[in-house]
Amino acid sequence: MTIKQTVKKYSNRLKNVTHIPSKEIEILIMYLLDKNVIWLHLNYESEFNKEKELEKLVQKREKEYPLEYLTQNVSFYGEKFHINEGVLIPRPETEILIEKVLDVQNSQNCINNVLEIGTGSGIISVMIALLIKDVKIIAVDINEKALALAKKNAIKHGVEEKIQFIHSDLFENIKQTNFDLVISNPPYIANNYKLPKNVDFEPHNALFGGEVGDELLKSIIDECSKRDVSYLMCEMGYDQKEPLQNYFKSFEIEALEFYKDYENFDRGFVAKFKK
Ligand SMILES: C[S@@+](CC[C@H](N)C(=O)[O-])C[C@H]1O[C@@H](n2cnc3c(N)ncnc32)[C@H](O)[C@@H]1O
Repeated sequence: MTIKQTVKKYSNRLKNVTHIPSKEIEILIMYLLDKNVIWLHLNYESEFNKEKELEKLVQKREKEYPLEYLTQNVSFYGEKFHINEGVLIPRPETEILIEKVLDVQNSQNCINNVLEIGTGSGIISVMIALLIKDVKIIAVDINEKALALAKKNAIKHGVEEKIQFIHSDLFENIKQTNFDLVISNPPYIANNYKLPKNVDFEPHNALFGGEVGDELLKSIIDECSKRDVSYLMCEMGYDQKEPLQNYFKSFEIEALEFYKDYENFDRGFVAKFKK
């Protein structure tokens, strides 16, 4: 069977799982052959000889197992990162946090040391390390699997010297008190929320933030207010703006901006603490 015929045959099986079934089969073929998209389109009439391997991947994908875990690859902010089961798959809306970091850095040039809470695959810390020249970052997570992957991604992008990875429950193992920026995309979903099937494959401790959902966000705000932190930037749930806005009222804040995601949902905030 040619590659073209293979794409046609297998894409039918993914019709109920994704709105881009042919594209996903192409991605799986490229992964199995270790080829890029240009090669694929120049060789569409070539024989495909890894059908057995493809069959196994399609069987998993049919059950809504995430494509990124199958290919162990994910794009974020235009860069490629390793990903694997046991670590949250980066979402496009988290790129907005990187934009917020750049907005502050471009106008204030003040971000030299950063703490990231819940680094996961390391995408946020690695991107900051790539985009800000002399920055030093501490990246923490409670998940050892995530820390190992984040380190691998830092090495892939040549920024491992700029990031220290520490196993820590929030700030627990962090002695340093002054940070120009604390950044986090913490778990923020309420514990009783029923996850869609595809998301259910991802680690639950990366998703659920407590009974209400915003508990970890509030703990991070509390701890930043006790330390010498200039900026706090966090992603949050679409329904958490009001409770967090109220929560911030009890802290000494110089500026607080909430931002929306690409679908116009409230998605995060940038807070500047009073010095
Ligand atoms: C939503 S994921 C974000 C991962 C990554 N930063 C991203 O944006 O794709 C949240 C991360 O926080 C970590 N985490 C959960 N609770 C934590 C805690 N108490 N202290 C530190 N990290 C925690 C999870 O293991 C997970 O990697």
